[in-house]
Amino acid sequence: MTDRILRISMSNAIEDELMSSSVVKNLNVLDFDYAPEELIHRDEQLRFLAQMFKPLLSRVSQNVIIKGPVGTGKTVIAKKFCSSLVSLARKQGKIIEYAHINCRKRSTDAMVLLGILNHFDSRFPDRGFSVPEMLQVLRKQLQKREAQLLVVLDEVDALLKKDSSNLIYDLTRFSDESLIEKIPVSLILISQKDIVPLIDPATLSTFKRSNILLLGKYTHDELYDIVRQRVDLAFHGDTINEDCIDLIADIASEWGDARFAIELLWKAGIAADHQHVEIVTPEHVRAAKAETYSIVTESKLKNLDRHQLFTLYAVAKRLKKDGTAYVNTGEAEKTYAITCEEFNERPRTHTMFWNYLKEIEGAGFINIKPSGKGHLGTTQLISLPDIPAEIVGNKVEELLK
Ligand SMILES: Nc1ncnc2c1ncn2[C@@H]1O[C@H](COP(=O)(O)OP(=O)(O)OP(=O)(O)O)[C@@H](O)[C@H]1O
Ligand SMILES: [Mg+2]
Repeated sequence: MTDRILRISMSNAIEDELMSSSVVKNLNVLDFDYAPEELIHRDEQLRFLAQMFKPLLSRVSQNVIIKGPVGTGKTVIAKKFCSSLVSLARKQGKIIEYAHINCRKRSTDAMVLLGILNHFDSRFPDRGFSVPEMLQVLRKQLQKREAQLLVVLDEVDALLKKDSSNLIYDLTRFSDESLIEKIPVSLILISQKDIVPLIDPATLSTFKRSNILLLGKYTHDELYDIVRQRVDLAFHGDTINEDCIDLIADIASEWGDARFAIELLWKAGIAADHQHVEIVTPEHVRAAKAETYSIVTESKLKNLDRHQLFTLYAVAKRLKKDGTAYVNTGEAEKTYAITCEEFNERPRTHTMFWNYLKEIEGAGFINIKPSGKGHLGTTQLISLPDIPAEIVGNKVEELLK
């Protein structure tokens, strides 16, 4: 009998939760891959891309690099721009085939090419063809359609890291002598990092120096507008307290990261739903922040190189050991040197160390401020604004191993 009651109440609980109302009316809009109809505060950048790629309408290829920190809209802007270009060209009777490849997921030449070929034929076999053969198939496909090609290589540093990659060179010299009419191939390379040093000079010569679009971190006000747009698209009317949007923009503006802002909004919505309340409040945002921080930190840490990690590790270790709010740069550098030795690496020069500090500050991990009275010279004080030193230290240690 009690077993039966238990089962009934359990199924009631499931039904209650599944059928309960939500503050969110359209969850898809909060998905990472969702691209809104209108991009906020990126008009100028879309215009820049349009100017750069105008020659494609006369079948002249172009290559552009898009660079910017995490969540600044690199992917979404490329997707938006390329689809608009494709449909505009089609109206003029011109065929542009556009393939968007994420090189973190496809990190070899063959895998990238396969991704491009899948755009033409989703059943193209994923084994059995060499890179030159696949390039030949691609040529045939484009000739058959009298099309030109536009390839976006997103997170391209993952591909360039491999010394053996020739694909970008091959694509920039795609039309071989045997072809009577050239097939224009245009590239957009996207990365958070500076990829110019990773590209060989022969390939780089096809990129003009001016063809770089730099996306900056979003400011508080820009993030506010981006979050406002998502609230209107995703939430039922009057379910979000205005303060929440401000608070989300505040938290995310430290990194200038729109993805983080949208994630906070989504998690705050879930937190309100879990409590079965009809309004999202700042307390839900704070809960979302606490939950999200560790995940975000982890993914951002993966973008740091070894010496930047050593530097961050040194700061975290020092702060934890001393139990203080700040560590000065001299002490941090000493710990950095010890850390390098622990990992069998030679510490870099003072200037390099200072650069690492600036870079991890730029990535939002630490704050640096001039020290007040009582300290000599140009000492600066470093703090970890949001994340406990212990968490940072442990995560960095995992990565270094
Ligand atoms: N200007 C904008 N207007 C509206 N939404 C935006 C804007 N910029 C970014 N977003 C949204 O923010 C999220 C992150 O953007 P996106 O994925 O393009 O960033 P990214 O620069 O490619 O980041 P990463 O370096 O991590 O790949 C996406 O959900 C995107 O739709
Ligand atoms: Mg991206």
